[in-house]
Amino acid sequence: MFTKVEHQSNGFDLIKINNDETTIVFTNYGARIVSWKYNDNNIVLGNVVEADEFYLDNPFNFGATVGRYGGRIENATFELEGQAYQLEANDDPHHIHGGSNGLDTTFFDYEIVEQVNQTKIIFTTELTEAQDGYPGDIRIQVTHTYDINYCWTVEYEATSTKTTLFNPMNHVYFNLNRDNNVVDNHVLSSEELLLYPLNKQHLVDTEEPIDLVDTFGKDKIALAELFESDVPRLAEQMAQCGGLDHPIEVSQGQLQLCNDQFVLDVETDMPYVVMFTFNDPSSWDSDFNIYKAHSGVTLETQCMPNDINRYGEDACSVLEPHQPFYSKTTYKISVKNEDE
Ligand code: BGC
Repeated sequence: MFTKVEHQSNGFDLIKINNDETTIVFTNYGARIVSWKYNDNNIVLGNVVEADEFYLDNPFNFGATVGRYGGRIENATFELEGQAYQLEANDDPHHIHGGSNGLDTTFFDYEIVEQVNQTKIIFTTELTEAQDGYPGDIRIQVTHTYDINYCWTVEYEATSTKTTLFNPMNHVYFNLNRDNNVVDNHVLSSEELLLYPLNKQHLVDTEEPIDLVDTFGKDKIALAELFESDVPRLAEQMAQCGGLDHPIEVSQGQLQLCNDQFVLDVETDMPYVVMFTFNDPSSWDSDFNIYKAHSGVTLETQCMPNDINRYGEDACSVLEPHQPFYSKTTYKISVKNEDE
């Protein structure tokens, strides 16, 4: 394995880790993944030209660490320990992605640790309550590890001075196709696939998910089958969102995404995976916007979005003061065997 750091303009560093036929690139801006190439095929959407301008005014959070709270918070408010908090309504009237002063726009400090079979980049930063409006100042460490088995691991650690919400995720979009065609041909599999429908506000308001394994009578489902389904509840969701933008519960935190060439194995200790298929690229007015609907699919591992307003203080995102937070997700890429 071989690691190289490139200092670019505006405080933007690229950290490139090379391992045989793969190269993975991270940046200190938002502790992001920038690209992940298997030979010449970039399997994540993003900043191929490695220009810092790519991220300015970009609403799609390519590869970013998003937080302190990844998903939407209804009406940008919540109550914790009897006190009401008002957050930035940056998805009017809701709050999303931790607001505009969240982790995705933060320059992290970092340290590179090269070990025998893996390289770690330990990114650290602090968010204060004055910055993002959540209670408590919080120290955050995001560690990206890449190993000789082509496995990328993301670990989140944090401690807060007060009871707060912490629900970070990585907003990476995958596209395993060599020709950068849409991801409709990607097959999603897990023994359990429970999709939580959204209301018109893009919020989950039901405890009754759509059981995809039951609906399709199989546990390997092409995204096109979801997009084109005529099962009424699912068809309604696909029409309303233009594709996937849904929390999905998978069996034991394990799922697989593949096309005819690659297999991506994902494992997480978080309860949901929000899959978003880049449904409306038109909101980004930029020369860098080469994207079309379904150009990629995110696999955002997190607690149920808006959980604080749904479950109160039992919500998985509540972090007690001075208690360590830890969560881990792994993404492993491999070339498909011919008999798969
Ligand atoms: C959200 C989408 C949003 C997208 C782009 C996803 O995490 O669920 O609703 O459009 O991010 O920022």
